[in-house]
Amino acid sequence: MTTVNERLAWRYATKKYDASKVVPDDKLERIIEAVRLTPTSSGLQPFELIVISNAEIRAKIRAVAWDQAQITDCSHLLVFAAWDDITADRVNMMFDLTNEIRGFRNEGWENYRQKLLGIVAGRGTEANYQAAARQAYIGLGSALIAAAFEEVDATPIEGFDPEAVDEILGLNAKGLRSVLLMPLGYRAAEGDWLVNLQKVRRSRENFVTEIK
Ligand SMILES: Cc1cc2nc3c(=O)[nH]c(=O)nc-3n(C[C@H](O)[C@H](O)[C@H](O)COP(=O)(O)O)c2cc1C
Repeated sequence: MTTVNERLAWRYATKKYDASKVVPDDKLERIIEAVRLTPTSSGLQPFELIVISNAEIRAKIRAVAWDQAQITDCSHLLVFAAWDDITADRVNMMFDLTNEIRGFRNEGWENYRQKLLGIVAGRGTEANYQAAARQAYIGLGSALIAAAFEEVDATPIEGFDPEAVDEILGLNAKGLRSVLLMPLGYRAAEGDWLVNLQKVRRSRENFVTEIK
């Protein structure tokens, strides 16, 4: 049986995709579902996923993303877009959804709602956005692991102009800001300078401190 870590050793930040290969719908859906199942602080899920197969839109995004060819050569481009603010309406939406799905109201939960409403009101828009963006990174981690599990190649991408991507996708009108891009697809048989290079990670000794 293949372990998760074997798959993580197999994956790499793919630099060249085979533009003729398409990720099948079932694999794509499982990767998306892994992002949807990602845990987030207070369960707010303060980000959304945009899945782009449209070639013209991807060409526009590539132009504001350091001309990275993965964006146009991949099969699907994921855009992780965080809430531009954590408003009272958004907090209440998730707390109400919890009550609706679970079918009951709980005093402890309602007290926590009030506490959280106070925190987000006091923190301000930019800090709330930053908090939301951190949750999007957790989603990115889930997507990377899920893609590796599905033997789909992926590239996490921070190298882009977020405001330009927001403009291309009309994200401001939706109260969202782009945080991360992630091409999904299949590595090209030739022409990827990274594919055969050894993975570089600090040793366990230089990475883990055990306190017993
Ligand atoms: C948040 C984040 C942003 C990244 N941005 C880019 C990027 O813009 N372009 C790129 O080619 N690789 C990007 N990378 C890939 C990293 O350079 C790569 O994951 C790291 O060097 C480890 O190598 P590996 O993923 O091949 O194991 C990014 C990775 C992460 C996690």
